[in-house]
Amino acid sequence: MTNRLCYVCEGGDCTEKGSGDVFDKLRDLIKQSDPNQERIKIRRYPCFGACDQGINVTLYPDKIFYSKVTEADLPEIAAHIEGKGEPVKRLTGKCQPDVEQIIWDMLDSPY
Ligand code: FES
Repeated sequence: MTNRLCYVCEGGDCTEKGSGDVFDKLRDLIKQSDPNQERIKIRRYPCFGACDQGINVTLYPDKIFYSKVTEADLPEIAAHIEGKGEPVKRLTGKCQPDVEQIIWDMLDSPY
């Protein structure tokens, strides 16, 4: 199974929309299959710069940028992260490609 790094935005706009709860619930869902986050790391991220499209959640190395995420979407997102489902396509492609690229460039960088 692919090791994955998942960021949940904790910037002001996303926090106002409930990203704190999204982070907690996603982490709890993933804990069921990877209790110590050995394969799947769930982390907070300061702000992706796509605040109007929040709540934003990214997956690496998949390079999937989910936008407008709600708690209702989390079981599907978790299933994909755990290798048991497909990416949740309806939540992708909502923000500018150059905004997405900034985070992928940073994560691809060896430094
Ligand atoms: S507050 Fe989440 S992208 Fe800026």
